[in-house]
Amino acid sequence: MKAILLAGGKGSRLYPVTLGVSKQLLPVYDKPMIYYPLSVLIMAKIKEILLISTKEDINSYKRLLSDGTQFGISIEYKVQNKPNGLAEAFILGEEFIGKDPVCLILGDNIFYGLDFTEKLEMVVKRTLSVGKGTIFSYPVNEPNRYGVIEYDKNGDVVSIVEKPRHPKSNNVVVGLYFYPNIVVKIAKKIRPSKRGELEITSINEYFLKERKLKVEALPQEFIWLDTGTLKSLIAAGQFIETIEKRKGIKVGCLEELAYQKGFINKKQLIQSISKMSETSYGNYLKNKYIK
Ligand code: TTP
Repeated sequence: MKAILLAGGKGSRLYPVTLGVSKQLLPVYDKPMIYYPLSVLIMAKIKEILLISTKEDINSYKRLLSDGTQFGISIEYKVQNKPNGLAEAFILGEEFIGKDPVCLILGDNIFYGLDFTEKLEMVVKRTLSVGKGTIFSYPVNEPNRYGVIEYDKNGDVVSIVEKPRHPKSNNVVVGLYFYPNIVVKIAKKIRPSKRGELEITSINEYFLKERKLKVEALPQEFIWLDTGTLKSLIAAGQFIETIEKRKGIKVGCLEELAYQKGFINKKQLIQSISKMSETSYGNYLKNKYIK
């Protein structure tokens, strides 16, 4: 299983903040935003990752994450020339994906909740063995900003509509997708939508029509945040601060997760910690794993 971490786009809803810096490099409390979705991939035990970003920003990601060996993973990089839509990731990533199934995660999405690791491991296994795609649904207040899921009387999914004026439910598709390898072919076939993008919803419609799409419901008590607006970015930072301070944990701490998953050994962990300065992030790792 390979994974694509999508960190391009314009971030125009955050202008002028994102005129000079990529949105997914902005801090969400104590770490760069991109750490959160990358931590999900480590939780899912996916080790081969392609990070896609803009020509202007790709080098900043390389500087931040290099080739991933410090986390026991491999990170490759690819430029997206224009924000042509989420589904373009599979076309840009064709060579990287090869013959494997692939997960796509958006660089501005934050996931936090009980049993998420187990769910991810189950979905990875299922994608590898059954050849169906999996998306995740989550109930939100303003569904019209997302891909909205419509259900029939039996609770089966009948359609997914991108940013509808009149949403048929408040369950939306979150920024984490798992597909069998055929997704590359499908991505090449779909046409740009009215807003000129290759929509992930078109990919999902294909899998839905073929009866090859599983929709996993993330429960209400699970936390899914996207950080695309100033309000949601600030709220996400406040949420992470509250959880981390209250529980004495770190959310999205890549070194810790890589160690827990056995991707790096104690020596490598200590080596990464030794490079950290006296920040809350660095001190957390020091106190927990060195002292
Ligand atoms: P969006 O939030 O749809 O777009 P954006 O991040 O450019 O923000 P804005 O609407 O404020 O201009 O994108 C969701 C995620 O996908 C985000 O992490 C950026 C990324 N993305 C790409 O990498 N390439 C693309 O072509 C698009 C459309 C988005």
